[in-house]
Amino acid sequence: MLDAPPNRPALPPEIARRRTFAIISHPDAGKTTLTEKFLLYGGAIQMAGQVRAKGEARRTRSDFMKMEQDRGISVSASAMSFDYREFRFNLVDTPGHSDFSEDTYRTLTAVDAAVMVIDGAKGVESQTRKLFEVCRLRDLPILTFCNKMDRESRDTFEIIDEIQEMLAIHVTPASWPIGVGREFLGCYDMLRNRLELMDRADRNKVAESIKIEGLDDPKLAEHVPQDLREKLIEEVEMAKELLPALDPQAVLEGHMTPIWFGSAINSFGVKELMDGIATYGPEPQIQAAEPRQIAPEEPTVAGFVFKVQANMDPKHRDRVAFVRLASGHFQRGMKLTHVRSKKPITVSSPVLFLAADRELAEEAWAGDIIGIPNHGQLRIGDTLTEGEALKVTGIPSFAPELLKNCRAGDPMKAKHLDKALMQFAEEGAAKVFKPMVGAGFIVGVVGALQFEVLASRIEQEYGLPVRFEPSQFTSARWVHGEKTAVESFVQKNKQHMATDNDGDVVYMTRLQWDIDRVVRDHPELTLSATKEMQ
Ligand code: G4P
Repeated sequence: MLDAPPNRPALPPEIARRRTFAIISHPDAGKTTLTEKFLLYGGAIQMAGQVRAKGEARRTRSDFMKMEQDRGISVSASAMSFDYREFRFNLVDTPGHSDFSEDTYRTLTAVDAAVMVIDGAKGVESQTRKLFEVCRLRDLPILTFCNKMDRESRDTFEIIDEIQEMLAIHVTPASWPIGVGREFLGCYDMLRNRLELMDRADRNKVAESIKIEGLDDPKLAEHVPQDLREKLIEEVEMAKELLPALDPQAVLEGHMTPIWFGSAINSFGVKELMDGIATYGPEPQIQAAEPRQIAPEEPTVAGFVFKVQANMDPKHRDRVAFVRLASGHFQRGMKLTHVRSKKPITVSSPVLFLAADRELAEEAWAGDIIGIPNHGQLRIGDTLTEGEALKVTGIPSFAPELLKNCRAGDPMKAKHLDKALMQFAEEGAAKVFKPMVGAGFIVGVVGALQFEVLASRIEQEYGLPVRFEPSQFTSARWVHGEKTAVESFVQKNKQHMATDNDGDVVYMTRLQWDIDRVVRDHPELTLSATKEMQ
């Protein structure tokens, strides 16, 4: 966490009510279902099922989307805003598949907290663990939702122990399940001393909430059969003794996660989780930047691009840059400075993503995510301000782990391929390297599935069939050093050299030995596997 300046003023109410977060989970744990219920309670949709229905409509528009449907994965991140009680929730969607971890990483730079969804029967799965590690790097507060309690699930203590051990984080129960599987009745709300009962008959109905005065309240006996009651009392006593009590500061610092138990499909436990996000959320945080950090309460607007999505509407070749506002009160029509190019841009048609629709944003506040349509001038990592030369830091670009040569199926159209690849590179969907010797491009990705997505999108969006063929190279490193030293290195190693889409020099490697050799023979240079987006 970044240091708050001393005597920091309270945030303006419009900013203080914002909660910007992402949901992280292993595929199938219930992220989509939970999102849908969030929107339902946020009043953004009237009926559960709409998110999918809208998704279907969207998917029919391209093969790329169709693939998303066929594979049952979500490949592009998007943002959705909705109100819950007096709060404005900004939910930023993260792609669930491990092949898209770079995109996910960047998405997580734009949120103040993460909700981790786990399946009660499966516990912490591989993808949850990876995503958790990314959150940990940023000390993001994490709230946990243990889903599918209506099915046979693991023992509650076992689940909590697994999270504590595998993820090295303190876990504090915010609720305690009563029974499991068919016997699952609901939860005891440990924070508010209430009994929440699940309605199995109506999946969209909010749970019945019964206020009780402690676990010896006779009202408990009216609703919970004796055997389950005795088990509950015993377990809650044990939990209070063995597990840490909720410490909001530890949650804020990312050292403790409160866990709620529920069943997203039955709308159970969701409201309690939403109340938890509202209370422990937290409000928009200070953003790391150079030469100084940015506080949300600053009167001037600053924001940064964490994602670029091209061709959201195939009819218009537009790109939408997703901008997280780090400070101030943004109003439509504002003139902002694009810090990288030092040029002013007038933001006349910013977009707010309300549920599944887009809407023109008349205004937005620190914490919000707005979409800015543009023709390619906005890139991932770019900072926008009202004039000050600030640069948001911490949005990395990773060295790709898989490389392939990319060729146009029709050689006459090779030129168009150039344009298409550059666009995807700017979008952050792939790394594109132009070798200094020979023709064609080398495309680098983090996960194999990305090649398929790219081929499908290039064909769909540019009408260009392409082939990806094996490359002799296996990895890439950015080369840093004095200009003359880099130039001399490039001259001597031309067969290995390429430039990335920003024109930066890259050393292509076949074996770890190549890297070791450069490190040994060229102490004047450094090779890096990541590069901060510029
Ligand atoms: P994901 O986005 O994390 O991949 O998960 P998603 O919400 O799509 O949920 C995965 C499956 O788990 C879905 O079933 C969904 O209905 C089910 N599910 C979600 N929450 C609960 C829950 O609380 N209890 C139970 N029992 N199941 C739950 P599916 O069969 O794959 O899809 P569908 O036919 O229901 O659409």
